[in-house]
Amino acid sequence: MLKGLLAALNPHKPKLWPGLIRAYRPLLSVAGGTKVITLGEGNTPLVRSLAIEERLKVSGLRVYLKFEGANPSGSFKDRGMTTAITQAMRRGLYTTICASTGNTSASAAAYTACARAAGFDQARCIVLIPDGYVALGKLSQALMYGAQVVQVAGNFDRALNIVRELSETRPIALVNSVNPDRIEGQKTAAFELCDQLGQPPDILSLPVGNAGNISAYWKGFTEYRRLGLIAARPTVFGFQAAGAAPIVLGYPVENPETIATAIRIGNPASWKTALKALSESGGFIDSVTDEEILEAYSFLHSAQGLGCEPASAASVAGLFKAAQMGKLFKGATVVCVLTGNGLKDPETALKSVSFEPLKCPADATSVAECLSL
Ligand code: F0G
Repeated sequence: MLKGLLAALNPHKPKLWPGLIRAYRPLLSVAGGTKVITLGEGNTPLVRSLAIEERLKVSGLRVYLKFEGANPSGSFKDRGMTTAITQAMRRGLYTTICASTGNTSASAAAYTACARAAGFDQARCIVLIPDGYVALGKLSQALMYGAQVVQVAGNFDRALNIVRELSETRPIALVNSVNPDRIEGQKTAAFELCDQLGQPPDILSLPVGNAGNISAYWKGFTEYRRLGLIAARPTVFGFQAAGAAPIVLGYPVENPETIATAIRIGNPASWKTALKALSESGGFIDSVTDEEILEAYSFLHSAQGLGCEPASAASVAGLFKAAQMGKLFKGATVVCVLTGNGLKDPETALKSVSFEPLKCPADATSVAECLSL
């Protein structure tokens, strides 16, 4: 009886996940003996979306959502940050710096705190954020994790130039995705998708900002294929916000504007590698309007029960657009990456619903009356 129960339970029983550096070590450039700075990132849920399948009505289409909001600081950035901070500490660069639309700063601050816990007492994190355009949850995270937060009077692109300059001339580790250690960690998302599905998806849909993530996914799929672990790589669809769509337009955008503040970027650092991923995969990049982003954002919350932030919803808004353009095919397996947790941006969430709670005396009869139960 007990034997049978254990046999039924065992394949699904949770085991201690060691974090992605240890999980994928032979495929990462982290030298043996390095002290690993980890918060248990990676191994995020891949959730089938019956709501999206039902809405798109493409025969045999399977849609999955890669819920990166389940990472420790609530976004995919933790994948690249475990490797970037681990390597920075190994090299003796105890001050870390980044420019950020919010998530990178939250993640850098968290992993720098984790480095202090691991014995690097002098570890210190500095983050530059664009003045007034960072979602509240992200800002409070960076502060709570103990980073020094500097709001610059300019956008993300300006802030990135500043941290590049500061880190070039000082013993400071730049932990934006221009640091190859970040891409190393982030490529594991591609490995994980293939491992969870048992094969690569046919189509991968991603929001694009500074273009580090799309480059990292492509690197991951390419390495898995080279190793013979998968036979083919997916087609990649990238989506930028219409007011911040330099790659779609083909030129930098001086003053990017979008409700999806995480991808409010006018001159992506990894522009070239993004184009390479798109062309090698036979995919495409397009823009989605703020209205389309907000519609997908509300849909994911209320029709699917998965909360992401507006920038993440661009991957789903983009999928809806791709369906209208006839870019989906029968029987395809699609993965949309939900890059950041819905709790990051409570202000946009509250603006998206009519927040007027019913007011009622505190007794069951009144509440029942109030609700017409
Ligand atoms: N989704 C979210 C939630 C993000 O925070 C970002 C980027 C992206 C998508 C786009 O990824 O830049 O690699 O193309 N956020 C950066 C930041 C810029 O500073 O947190 P990307």
